Amino acid sequence: MHTTIDQFIAGIPKAELHLHIEGTFEPELMFEIAHRNQLKLKYATVQELKAAYQFNNLQEFLDIYYSGANVLMEEQDFYDLTWAYLQKIHSQKVVHTEIFFDPQTHTLRGVPFNKVISGIHRALKDGENILGISSKLIVSILRHLSEEAAFETLEQALKYKDWISAVGLDSSEKGHPPSKFERVFEKARKEGLLVVAHAGEEGPPEYVWEALDILKVSRIDHGNRSLEDAQLVEELVRRKMPLTVCPLSNLQLKVVQELTSHPILEMLEKGMVATVNSDDPAYFGGYINENYLALAQALNLSKEQITQLAKNSFQASFLEEDEKLRMIERVDDYFQENNI
Ligand code: HPA
Ligand code: ZN
Repeated sequence: MHTTIDQFIAGIPKAELHLHIEGTFEPELMFEIAHRNQLKLKYATVQELKAAYQFNNLQEFLDIYYSGANVLMEEQDFYDLTWAYLQKIHSQKVVHTEIFFDPQTHTLRGVPFNKVISGIHRALKDGENILGISSKLIVSILRHLSEEAAFETLEQALKYKDWISAVGLDSSEKGHPPSKFERVFEKARKEGLLVVAHAGEEGPPEYVWEALDILKVSRIDHGNRSLEDAQLVEELVRRKMPLTVCPLSNLQLKVVQELTSHPILEMLEKGMVATVNSDDPAYFGGYINENYLALAQALNLSKEQITQLAKNSFQASFLEEDEKLRMIERVDDYFQENNI
């Protein structure tokens, strides 16, 4: 039987590498958790809240994203948030996920680091045991805050080193270059953690260079604006440096004006290790399969190209080499069976 593109995307095994757990907070769960914590949201109904999800840039999104996260108070809240995401991706054939959380969004409101990470970790363990989804956890530093605050967050995170794979950098990019956190990331690397950074989403190619050469990242999150600098593109290809690209996020935050002008094919054609991810799916209108599908429709992607993107997702992951190869083989087998 012929496999349609929708079916092909729905069934292909894939990894997600750029996902903010606070960005999976669906309005219905947000109202439920706000109610049980006796907190009030700024909006009276799910419909009113959803109507506010209109963004002209990254900052307009971040303001709403942080205010939503403010109702998360208890360990169970972080568990419920993470478990809902895992169930969702289980239905989308995500077999491995590497998720960010933003500790400072919570610790600054008086929620202890321990409650945040324990709830997320417990859900990730259940995800592994019950759903068979493997995972890694990335502590993300809010770049609009100070170096000192970042160091404090790193110190807290280091107490849970066994639960953490990497340190990331997110929030308002413009005016907060990666170099601001050179010493924090150096310390994280010395402690044996990998590092990644959002760069080239709204910020210039220079920020991508800084992420590479000053922070010494293992992946660039977004990286769209790298394409403005031919020498940078060459360097990213030479280093096989993965980019975790987020198409629906790019559309909603006006990083691209239309998906038909999304640069993912250009990235693949240039030999860059681009991957597809959902970023903040509750806010941007889709989880990972909706991202693949929107791209496939806008750019008329072939099954070969979709397969390449799924293979890249494992190649770019923090899985062990043998596990990567096993997963890439699984994707190849899927292609052979469904390229009809
Ligand atoms: N960019 C920067 N910070 C973020 C994002 C993003 O796409 N999503 C959540 N925090
Ligand atoms: Zn992001």
